[in-house]
Amino acid sequence: MVKSPGAEIRRYLAPVDTLTTQQFFTDCLVIGSGVAGLRAAIEAAAVGTVTLVSKGSIDQSNTWDAQGGIAAVLDSQDSFDKHIADTLATGAGLCDRQVVSQVIRQAPELIGELISWGTEFDRVNGVIDATFEGGHSFARVIHSHGDSTGRGIAEGLLKKLRSCPTIRTLEHFFVIDLLTGADQECCGAIGWQAGGTFQIIWAARTILATGGAGRLYRETTNPENATADGLAMAYRAGAVLRDLEFMQFHPTTLYIAGASRALITETLRGEGAILRDKDGYAFMKDYHSDGELAPRDVVSRAIVDHMHKTGATHVYLDIRHFDKEHFQKRFPFISELCDSFDIDVSKDMIPVRPSAHYMVGGIKVDSEGATNIANLYACGEAASTGLHGANRLGSNSLLEGLVYGRIAGQSAARGIDRSRPHRQHSAIEFSVPQSNRSRLDTEDVRNSLRALMWRNVGISRQESLLVETQEIIRFWQRYVMDKVFHSPAGWECQNMLTVAWLMARSAELRRESRGVHYRADFPAADDVHFLKHIEVSCAD
Ligand code: FUM
Repeated sequence: MVKSPGAEIRRYLAPVDTLTTQQFFTDCLVIGSGVAGLRAAIEAAAVGTVTLVSKGSIDQSNTWDAQGGIAAVLDSQDSFDKHIADTLATGAGLCDRQVVSQVIRQAPELIGELISWGTEFDRVNGVIDATFEGGHSFARVIHSHGDSTGRGIAEGLLKKLRSCPTIRTLEHFFVIDLLTGADQECCGAIGWQAGGTFQIIWAARTILATGGAGRLYRETTNPENATADGLAMAYRAGAVLRDLEFMQFHPTTLYIAGASRALITETLRGEGAILRDKDGYAFMKDYHSDGELAPRDVVSRAIVDHMHKTGATHVYLDIRHFDKEHFQKRFPFISELCDSFDIDVSKDMIPVRPSAHYMVGGIKVDSEGATNIANLYACGEAASTGLHGANRLGSNSLLEGLVYGRIAGQSAARGIDRSRPHRQHSAIEFSVPQSNRSRLDTEDVRNSLRALMWRNVGISRQESLLVETQEIIRFWQRYVMDKVFHSPAGWECQNMLTVAWLMARSAELRRESRGVHYRADFPAADDVHFLKHIEVSCAD
């Protein structure tokens, strides 16, 4: 278990006084509005009152931006066993077989449920259309609105959620910390409502569905709110986190200097897009026999290697051979995106390179979605269930969000007893001494941290740079972690520094290459020493 030696991590980021702060009680607090949070809230609402809070508006999440699809065995030619085998092979020895089987077998039922709630999956002649992504041995990635699958799924879930009278939603609500009582059980959270009010939400059960950590990297497909807040607050509360060295890099992000990065879905490669260098050479077969459809970690590393060899800043995705009309219909989001940069896909290739995409690790949960802290559950990208192992198979994450969202919601609901009055919690008071150290510009720290993580904890890592990264983060932490901030920008910076250090430390400790974690100084897998998870916790 990795502790955080020398880190100035205090229990709460902001002073807490539960006697004087505005407060209310809910049976179940759900933090996060992606697929997992929405699904969890719907489930828990069957038993009690649910408060779902989102950091931004309810439609700002990695789910909403998900393009390619959701993996599900729906074709009689396919089988659960094949999907399970593909997931295990991609996970490189660290998947939990029971979890893999459990998640994959629930897909047809949960897809049916989504359809009944209003999600429209794309169909050809009435049959749900499915395509390939890297690592899948069968075309089982189904999609909605062409390349806006996350939006299609979220729309169905939101429709259902809005029909549940016991769910209250709070948007633009930044959760600063989880509250824990004298016996260390979770009893809700303290947060900040945009506009400036601090608020305590007492909750019998709390579900973290806060998403990932892509914004810890300069290059990322993730929206602005993916700053690892859930991981950091769970860590401060004493939760066990694991597999933080496994950040998945997506091979193809639109690369136009100065423009914000945008995902170019892998399903384009699933339907025949070719990766080429600036001379038009299709290089992927030089790196893997599956070419463009090799697993994501292989394609990302191949692109970076090829960029180094050719001295290029990016490569290209070539879809000039696609039928343009079909492309516009099948991939409307990418089509509009390319148009907005005057890329005519029938003549021009799309400039791309890899970027941080998905946190494979997270808060350790059991098969009930429970963390090691009583009354605290986690699901979605924030959680580590055991499905992904050391590398996530594309399009398995929306599925995991649905399955574990439902499980976490059910588990939380089981403990809610509506016949008894809400429990009175003992008061929590926490003060923070005034700091006499200099102030750093947190915007500058944040940008420098993201550049550092991209350089040193990116697609290819090595010991000396991982150690140096921890030292630099420690330096920033000395001047940032001791301060009290009064708005999300400061708390986000504190959360990012906390989780970035843990990621660099975990990556240093894994002295081998496995899944998405590649060590240039230990390029092979070492099953003797590392066929195991690296766990981190700040608890004694
Ligand atoms: O390429 C994509 O559409 C991404 C899919 C995923 O991350 O699962």
